[in-house]
Amino acid sequence: MVVTLIGAGPGDPDLITLKAVKALKKADVIIYDRLANEQILEHAPENVKLIYVGKKAGEHYKKQAEINQIIVDNAKKYDNVIRLKGGDPFVFGRGGEEILELINNNIDFNVIPGVTSAIGAPTSLNLPVTHRAVATSFTVVTGHEDPTKIDKQVHWDYTADTLIILMGIGNIKSNTEEIMKYRDPDTPACVIESGTLPEENVIFGNLGNIAEKEIHTPAILVIGDVINVYKKIYNFKNQKLSE
Ligand SMILES: C[S@@+](CC[C@H](N)C(=O)[O-])C[C@H]1O[C@@H](n2cnc3c(N)ncnc32)[C@H](O)[C@@H]1O
Repeated sequence: MVVTLIGAGPGDPDLITLKAVKALKKADVIIYDRLANEQILEHAPENVKLIYVGKKAGEHYKKQAEINQIIVDNAKKYDNVIRLKGGDPFVFGRGGEEILELINNNIDFNVIPGVTSAIGAPTSLNLPVTHRAVATSFTVVTGHEDPTKIDKQVHWDYTADTLIILMGIGNIKSNTEEIMKYRDPDTPACVIESGTLPEENVIFGNLGNIAEKEIHTPAILVIGDVINVYKKIYNFKNQKLSE
């Protein structure tokens, strides 16, 4: 028995690694999330057991403890258990918690990295998260810190040139208000909706007004001067498209 945590990538099913495809071909069971593209399941054998543990409208949302138990129970019964997660398993994916639970149960595991939406979504749109003379650093941060946490770790005073915020659309107004304590409201910002998927969309604005836009999830918020570089690239590509 071995559990392999696999990063499914940001959405486009072609953005999975070859190593992940090889592991999927040997799967007995696949336990998968909402943001893992279901087309990826086609790499698995026909008789694979599929267990969906994501959120669907009107259905009970499985708590992390329940998911951990499902992984452990299946690992005790099957040789090759795959835990398939959107993006990268260790970027806001609770992959570390699942591994610690496997260690508690003396179950072996492997981890196969995935293309995280934090970088994969901007890059696939041709948005460079670093750019010589414009941005030498980036920070990826949650926009939805666990509300039950007593000692908050997100203070929004990050000094990196580019800020990339995941899970931040629900709190976009309060988060951007906090960020404006440290950055100018005119700082360029954009939202990437459904990055790498057919319904992919980008919304431009600035720190002061991006919260007023109509935004559909999943989405990430990117803040920083790299967006001025991206606007040139975006205009070139759109001219090309309209030719
Ligand atoms: C629980 S986190 C998981 C992140 C994932 N492990 C990763 O590396 O991309 C979910 C958040 O990722 C972002 N996200 C995931 N897929 C996305 C996509 N295709 N386009 C835009 N944002 C995405 C959204 O901010 C969403 O709220």
